[in-house]
Amino acid sequence: MKPFALVLFSLLVCFGFAQPVVGQEKVEFTVSELAFIQSHGPWPPKMEPDPSNRFSGEPSASAWGQQLFQDVRLSQAQTLSCASCHDPDRYFADGKARSTGTSTVDRNAIALADLRLNRWFGWAGQSDNLWAQSIHPILDRREMNATVETIVQRVRQESDLAANYTAIIGKGPKEEEPLRLLVNIAKILAAYQETIRTPTSAFDLMRTRLLEDEMISEDAAVLAGLKLFVGKGKCSLCHFGPNFTNGEFHDIGLPYFIESGQVDQGRYGGIRDLKASAFNRLGEYGDEPAESAAQAPTAFVSLQHRNWGEFRVPSLRNVSKTAPYMHNGTLASLEDVVRHYSTIDIERLHADGETILKSLDLTKQEIANLVAFLKTL
Ligand code: HEC
Ligand code: HEC
Repeated sequence: MKPFALVLFSLLVCFGFAQPVVGQEKVEFTVSELAFIQSHGPWPPKMEPDPSNRFSGEPSASAWGQQLFQDVRLSQAQTLSCASCHDPDRYFADGKARSTGTSTVDRNAIALADLRLNRWFGWAGQSDNLWAQSIHPILDRREMNATVETIVQRVRQESDLAANYTAIIGKGPKEEEPLRLLVNIAKILAAYQETIRTPTSAFDLMRTRLLEDEMISEDAAVLAGLKLFVGKGKCSLCHFGPNFTNGEFHDIGLPYFIESGQVDQGRYGGIRDLKASAFNRLGEYGDEPAESAAQAPTAFVSLQHRNWGEFRVPSLRNVSKTAPYMHNGTLASLEDVVRHYSTIDIERLHADGETILKSLDLTKQEIANLVAFLKTL
């Protein structure tokens, strides 16, 4: 290197310009921050078969389920499949703010992954099991708009569907009662969806190195972002554990109006729909023995005023791949999400008793750091 260039280079290093994101100051974690970091793993956790679905974990069922997931015959007009909104090439989401079936729905398509870890399904937790949640889009007027009769007729008449049904369910579709047939199709779809998993992430590898006190070569921005996530940002309190969600519902102050005059009730409507559903874990269609432990949350959940405007805490694994964000897809990028938490308007919070959130007033650098961390998930 020429002397002049060498001087310039040293100056750049001294003033930190060689590191465009942040300086090289060391990021230290407190004991409590390290405990939160530990709680976000290990990954993958053990995922047992679903006791409410007798086809769960069956390879032949999940292989047929994968075909059905792409099959437009499950929609009335034979134009839409599950994959229309849960595109395998888009991490099982659709990249749109709100999904379009036969018409536009009110919510953002949830990226399907690691579904055995869910206690509740949908943004409002309207279902307590994966097969019930899979029936919903088939019959929804704005999604696939089919009827029970259509599904029954197709499975009975289309020879490939009838043959698979008989082979895997162990009974001919003509002998099956209509609602049972629909439930079985949904259970087959569920057996496939359970096999969709997110891989070990850059975060998981970093977590192991941090806990084992190994040399950390991570980007300083990522480490500073992690420190904010588990520390001052309090993100870990709701985005908790290995799947970065406590599995429950909160109001983080997003607008809850859908169209003029209409409101998305969130968890309030979700609990009501769950309790009314013939397909919940307390109903006759599940395969688990009566009074199993998995039925307790459904038996005990009760409608409360605070549930208005609450939505499920989403997992943050793969989050950089599944924009746009939130139940209504209104935040386009991770920067927008972090800016929302930075400038949150506490007055807006609809649910009473939301004590965790406060406006974080982050600097531009802190916002960039938190985003850099989220990208490691
Ligand atoms: C028109 C678009 C569309 C179609 C078609 C569609 N979905 Fe969805 N899916 C959504 C939206 C939107 C949500 C969020 C729903 C909500 O919270 O109310 C969702 C949520 C889900 C969830 C909840 C995931 C979770 O983590 O809670 C599952 C499971 C699911 N869909 C499975 C399916 C299956 C199976 C099919 C086909 C039978 C299907 N979807 C068809 C748009 C669609
Ligand atoms: C009080 C609980 C709570 C805290 C604390 C919290 N979140 Fe959230 N987070 C939620 C809920 C609930 C949603 C979904 C809200 C909705 O759609 O209406 C969400 C959504 C998100 C999303 C969008 C994910 C997606 O797939 O749409 C991201 C990213 C996110 N949070 C990151 C963070 C970060 C970073 C922090 C810390 C600064 C944080 N959250 C703190 C509850 C929380």
